[in-house]
Amino acid sequence: MQRIERVRELQAWSDGVRAAGGRVALVPTMGALHPGHLSLVRHAYRCADRVIVSIFVNPTQFGAGEDFSFYPRDLERDCELLRELGTDVVFAPPVKEVYPEGWSTWVEVEGLTGGLCGRNRPGHFRGVTTVVARLFHAAKPHVAVFGEKDYQQLAVIRRMARDLLLDVEIEGAPTVREPDGLAMSSRNRNLSEEERLQARALHAALREAALSVRAGERRSAVLIESVRRQIAEQPAACVDYVEIVDPDTLDPVASIVRRAVLAVAVRFPKARLIDNALLETA
Ligand code: PAF
Repeated sequence: MQRIERVRELQAWSDGVRAAGGRVALVPTMGALHPGHLSLVRHAYRCADRVIVSIFVNPTQFGAGEDFSFYPRDLERDCELLRELGTDVVFAPPVKEVYPEGWSTWVEVEGLTGGLCGRNRPGHFRGVTTVVARLFHAAKPHVAVFGEKDYQQLAVIRRMARDLLLDVEIEGAPTVREPDGLAMSSRNRNLSEEERLQARALHAALREAALSVRAGERRSAVLIESVRRQIAEQPAACVDYVEIVDPDTLDPVASIVRRAVLAVAVRFPKARLIDNALLETA
């Protein structure tokens, strides 16, 4: 496994694979890898011959007072896990390599970023799309893989790729869960033992809502209220949002016609967790 820190070196590596007829996949991460990330890497190998995993805790997507400073970092362990998986390249650039002196270009997707996480995290998606666009230019991938747990992020990146005519296929990979249903996330490490138990309520509430829809409930307000109540029963949990939205536009829907996405964000003292479920009427 090669460890690369410089953009030019990564571009040259990717050019070499492309010239030899190989297909390159990129898995962008912020490190602190868990089995969910590793499943993205496995997914990437099903789409390409060679895989680059980027590890970069991107400062521009964290707002003031968010968890940038205590976002977990463990590059050596991450590299060990990726080596065991047979990853071709880890791209772990210093901040100055991604945001060099004098850098002043942002990439921003409008509309899709206004609701859900975008409402309470102004500037977050602008940071995500800016860094992902830069990573695409550095890695020159044919395909890039993102987790479906970050449903809005995946939708926003798809839109950016479409709008900017980026020649990169965007692949979504299913959420990987702990045995009790909690979606795997690097931020789970910041939960205390007690909070970790309480966090089970997220998936339990989403699952119950999905079952209610199958059983005939169509009213978003009723479903949202039930999810909100179940999460609010957890003393350490503070609901950021519970929303039901159209899967493509991310606009709120008052009732479920065929399919919708139920998305939640919940704050614990040192971790903000997100999760979602697809609601289908049949
Ligand atoms: O999902 C993440 O870990 C980050 O938002 C990403 C896509 C790596 C951009 O920093």
